[in-house]
Amino acid sequence: MADERQITFRYTEYDSLDELDDASVALLQEAEKAMGRAYAPYSHFHVGAAVRLESGKVYTGNNQENVAYPSGLCAERVALFHAMSQDPKSIIEAVAITARSEDFELTRVITPCGACRQALLEYEVNAASPIQVILGSTAGRTIVVDSVLSMLPLSFCETKLKKG
Ligand code: THU
Repeated sequence: MADERQITFRYTEYDSLDELDDASVALLQEAEKAMGRAYAPYSHFHVGAAVRLESGKVYTGNNQENVAYPSGLCAERVALFHAMSQDPKSIIEAVAITARSEDFELTRVITPCGACRQALLEYEVNAASPIQVILGSTAGRTIVVDSVLSMLPLSFCETKLKKG
């Protein structure tokens, strides 16, 4: 007999930054600064991301586009790979993401694409420590999700592929 199953996840929406803790607000500010340095001449869509490690160190990144479109990379992976290339094996506590468009008004947060969720999940699983995802927006509310896994249900995660 077939079993129907359901996966749900919780997240918190904040009306104002005043309700967030200081570390999250500071991380969002770093993401916003990084967004200001994005290279997005094709989409005109500027994204910034900031990764905070357990040590408190923050690494940032922004989207880097390319005339051969698929060669570009999202802000989240630029920040994540920046962090993990400089501080391998470190534990990531949180990632903050924010965006703005030159062409239209963004009225809500942007959420990371599937590939970025998968990339973040790799380090969350390795460290066995949840990564908080803080989604900011210049207008509107802030969303906080307490783990990447919750944003990527039934994700590919075959630990037996890892040697050693
Ligand atoms: N982008 C990001 O940097 N992060 C996301 O989560 C979604 C999309 C970038 C990729 C591309 O440079 C532009 O936004 C439009 O898709």
